Amino acid sequence: KRKIIIDTDPGQDDAVAMLLAFASPEEVDVVGITAVAGNVPLELTAKNARIICELAGKPDTKVFAGCDRPLRRDLVTAEYVHGKTGLNGPVLPDPTMPLQDQHAVDFIIDTLCAHDPGTVTLCPLGPLTNIATAFELAPEIIERVQEIVLMGGAYFEVGNVTPAAEFNIYVDPQAADIVFRSGVPLVVMPLDVTHNALVTKARNDAFRALPGEVGHAVAEMTDFFERFDKEKYGSDGAPLHDPTVIAYLIQPDLFRGRHINVQIETQSELTMGMTVADWWGVTDHPPNALFVGDVDSDAFFALLTERIARL
Ligand code: BDR
Ligand code: CA
Repeated sequence: KRKIIIDTDPGQDDAVAMLLAFASPEEVDVVGITAVAGNVPLELTAKNARIICELAGKPDTKVFAGCDRPLRRDLVTAEYVHGKTGLNGPVLPDPTMPLQDQHAVDFIIDTLCAHDPGTVTLCPLGPLTNIATAFELAPEIIERVQEIVLMGGAYFEVGNVTPAAEFNIYVDPQAADIVFRSGVPLVVMPLDVTHNALVTKARNDAFRALPGEVGHAVAEMTDFFERFDKEKYGSDGAPLHDPTVIAYLIQPDLFRGRHINVQIETQSELTMGMTVADWWGVTDHPPNALFVGDVDSDAFFALLTERIARL
């Protein structure tokens, strides 16, 4: 079983990813949740993370607030997708569990130092600011990370926030660059995967039909998400990005990808935050990531629905 830190900017899809992790204690042990500014400002992501812990019946989870802005750029948020609170859709109570006093970056550093090398996996679901800051402040932790499994980037599916870039990487390209150059083994879930993980009407109905409030909340969250993507892309349903990261930890054989070299564009305004992925191996740059290209979406939603039902 893997020890994981979920670094997140909830976000309805982040929320579903957290729920999937909480529902899967045999495969993953959530040692802490670190919030970062992204979909909405930090104050809201730190609050939303606690709302979801309580929804999952895990009020003892340690939740930390991290960086409130990208390393070098102004924060770009995505209320147009996620709503004003970041978690629009379900009606959920404000959290009563505490936010930890420690800064998320210090928690990441301390946790990696306290555990044996190669036993803690980082799961970033938002901009990579907290992770990159931890690597800059304490480079000795880099070789202690077991793996980073993250949602971000795009190749054939190009961008969702600019024509060239995916949101998480675009918001903090300098941070992404630090992480992609770090040498830590990376598994990347780009839009190429998540645009195949669509919440169709039937999949949403399956969440709604689950007994208990968690299934209902997931249906309400994915319904809200849906409005934006359906109009925008005319697809069958909204892509459920972030839960692919947790699903990979539970059932990696749902995914197919290639070990390739991926670099982050940090210079050009036009293509800022682009994940330049050498999918066809046209350079001799060594692979730094398992860049995932496809998911068995029916099996992914079957897993997700079965796990959410456990909460
Ligand atoms: C990513 O951006 C956010 O809006 C989602 O939560 C996801 O992490 C998709 O581009
Ligand atoms: Ca996210």
